[in-house]
Amino acid sequence: MTGKVVVITGATSGIGRVAAEKLAGLGARMVVIARDQARGAATLGRLRSINGSAKHTIHYADLSRISEMKRVAAEVVAAEPRIDVLINNAGALFGSRHLTEDGLELTFATNHLAYFVVSLGLLDRLRASAPSRVINTSSGAHEKARLDFGDLQSEEAYQGTLWDTLRYGGPGFKAYALSKLCNILFTRELARRLEGSGVTVNCFHPGFVDTRFGDESGGLISWGLRAAKHLAISPEKGAATLVYLASSPEVAGVTGRYFFRCRPVAPTRQAQDDRAARALWQESERLSSLVGVLPPSPAS
Ligand SMILES: NC(=O)c1ccc[n+]([C@@H]2O[C@H](COP(=O)([O-])OP(=O)(O)OC[C@H]3O[C@@H](n4cnc5c(N)ncnc54)[C@H](OP(=O)(O)O)[C@@H]3O)[C@@H](O)[C@H]2O)c1
Repeated sequence: MTGKVVVITGATSGIGRVAAEKLAGLGARMVVIARDQARGAATLGRLRSINGSAKHTIHYADLSRISEMKRVAAEVVAAEPRIDVLINNAGALFGSRHLTEDGLELTFATNHLAYFVVSLGLLDRLRASAPSRVINTSSGAHEKARLDFGDLQSEEAYQGTLWDTLRYGGPGFKAYALSKLCNILFTRELARRLEGSGVTVNCFHPGFVDTRFGDESGGLISWGLRAAKHLAISPEKGAATLVYLASSPEVAGVTGRYFFRCRPVAPTRQAQDDRAARALWQESERLSSLVGVLPPSPAS
């Protein structure tokens, strides 16, 4: 990875933190997008101590806000003449429903729309730097999702019927599962639109990983996840597939796939629904006002 520039979100903690440190150790120069100044500074300090000769940098943004997603993408583009890898990894689970300043449900905005807007913002750099890679952190939680275009903002999801509680395990998980399904649909549609460009796009499930994930979700969710985390794998194991997708020559030409334990696996049928992926793309374009930045390819 020496000489490669890797842009990563969610590197101040958990899976992203370990992946950023491993990639820096392999020689990459890391460009971190973070929201918290103290955790951001600590992350940068660790990266510099691992590989001081690479000029790692940091940009700050709250990735739940569309204006911030766009601003930080433009800032990175202005600072970086080439980008070899983009890792969309920041994500969270919320115990109750919140709306962002854009009127979007917070999980959808942070876990899906930020991936979409940041990727489109960096697209010209990624294309000009080809061969390059985009990697999206998804989750096995997508298996429980149901894509309902009438309820993308999860108004019903948070109402918490008994059936939902039994099926998903609690309020918030339904919206979370939906956002992780969106990650796979977005990966496949972006890969199709970028076919032949030399930019590959893949996503992965890290496993159930002992990170800060869920700690700030609130109420029973945080309590339940904390209790379950003694069954979770380490962040080092959770980051292994991400590091592999970012750095291995084995996946140089592979695109549009969903990985688990460094192997491509089939996501659910719904995650392979190409019409749904196109419709989600169009809705994401509309919500972010980024219509027509990357038109469909003949393969789409
Ligand atoms: N842990 C698991 O079992 C598991 C399983 C499947 C998938 N995943 C996925 O893995 C990814 C990483 O999660 P993790 O487990 O490593 O959790 P984590 O330790 O909580 O890390 C989440 C990262 O996302 C950042 N983030 C959250 N909201 C943000 C926002 N609005 N703006 C900017 N950055 C934001 C956090 O920043 P701060 O440091 O400022 O909070 C942190 O760096 C997520 O996409 C998650 O859905 C996790």
